[in-house]
Amino acid sequence: MTTQTKQEESLNDEWEPKILAFLCNWCSYAGADLAGVSRIQYPPTIRVVRVPCSGRVSPYFIIKSLMDGWDGVVVSGCHPGDCHYLTGNLVARRRFAILKELLEFFGIEPGRVNFMWASAAEGERFANLIKKATKIVKKLGPNKKFEKKW
Ligand code: FES
Repeated sequence: MTTQTKQEESLNDEWEPKILAFLCNWCSYAGADLAGVSRIQYPPTIRVVRVPCSGRVSPYFIIKSLMDGWDGVVVSGCHPGDCHYLTGNLVARRRFAILKELLEFFGIEPGRVNFMWASAAEGERFANLIKKATKIVKKLGPNKKFEKKW
């Protein structure tokens, strides 16, 4: 292993991704709140946008977030069958499966976009999913596809 590689590795260890998280108001946002109130630790890599339902998150929001320089995007909604708008989360899941393929086509690593379910009672699960998403995005490194604005 060369010295430069070691330096790059050490820089990558220090680097923390910036992830924009769209959280459904009814489940995941409350799950994030529960994690905070319960003092369950998770990486401070996410900035939260509260949305009425995961089905409200347009693919445009995700593409625009990546174009604005976010390293990753998380969309989290209610579990299947629990959506307050009946099928919003199922529509979102279908939409993001297609979006991931589209991102790959444009040369954007699909791992930068993570879709998950977390209920209001699952603070621990929420924290674990954020840890997992952070790990995936951290492994991918900074979003160099688009120039950062900050
Ligand atoms: Fe939570 Fe639809 S209300 S995903």
